Amino acid sequence: MQNSERIEQYAVIGNPIAHSKSPFLHSAFAQQCHQSMRYGRILAPLGQFETTLREFIAQGARGANVTLPFKLDAFRLCSTLTPRAEAAGAVNTLSFENGEICGDNTDGCGLVKDIVNNAGTALKDRRILLLGAGGAARGALLPLLECGPQELVIANRSPEKAQQLAREFGSDGPIHEAGFDRLQGQFDIIINATSASISAQRPPLPDSVYRPGTLAYDMMYGEHLTPFLQHAAQQQAATRDGWGMLVEQAAESFYMWRGVRPVTTELLVREYTSAL
Ligand code: ATR
Repeated sequence: MQNSERIEQYAVIGNPIAHSKSPFLHSAFAQQCHQSMRYGRILAPLGQFETTLREFIAQGARGANVTLPFKLDAFRLCSTLTPRAEAAGAVNTLSFENGEICGDNTDGCGLVKDIVNNAGTALKDRRILLLGAGGAARGALLPLLECGPQELVIANRSPEKAQQLAREFGSDGPIHEAGFDRLQGQFDIIINATSASISAQRPPLPDSVYRPGTLAYDMMYGEHLTPFLQHAAQQQAATRDGWGMLVEQAAESFYMWRGVRPVTTELLVREYTSAL
């Protein structure tokens, strides 16, 4: 028989945090998988991530998700890292075991699962264009290359950052850098990992990168199509925002913690989730 003292504690830590959908997603997974756990949200003051995290661990917590702007702080505090967290250079999932802080990164895996399983778009042998060279792009690189694309082109406003990533991941697969004005040919999948959508802007992509049916994917999500997705739709691309990635990265974190893989189908339906 479970009692309240044995309910295991998890939370998402960030700043800001009030908007986070993670407590809702993990509560739904816990209910579905009959797991006795509680998942809250914690606002860490800027510059005080470590203190906040250690207080949470001292309360007996089992794990945490980490969101902006603390994914690099979390990375530095971990005593062990999974290979995908090491490649991402950032951590979004922490497990606390025997006094150790173990770090993982489920963002890139969530992206790949959403594209392949939910959007039904294969990545193997396809031409992929990844836009951006910040933390979000870096986290996606290894999981994307592991899918065996024909080519992965990375483009960024500041080309030297994309060149650096192409060099770093060159041994993991066929990755090349190209500036927005040097992109050649059409792509099967175009992923926006820039933060341009936050300021209602879009990366300066030429129309020629699209073919009818290209999957245009924005890691951001919201009520309306982002400027990147609006432009892609005008080029007859299929569009998808980052809601499914959010759901899938949460499911992967849940699996890492609980050893049970939740079914995500219901949570992917926006009409269902927006009512909650
Ligand atoms: P994140 O962790 O979300 O990746 P980041 O590390 O600050 O955030 O990186 C933001 C990315 O979005 C960068 O690749 C940035 O390009 P620069 O490296 O040239 O700064 C890109 N970005 C932000 N606003 C953009 C815009 N309006 N157009 C194109 N790229 C933009």
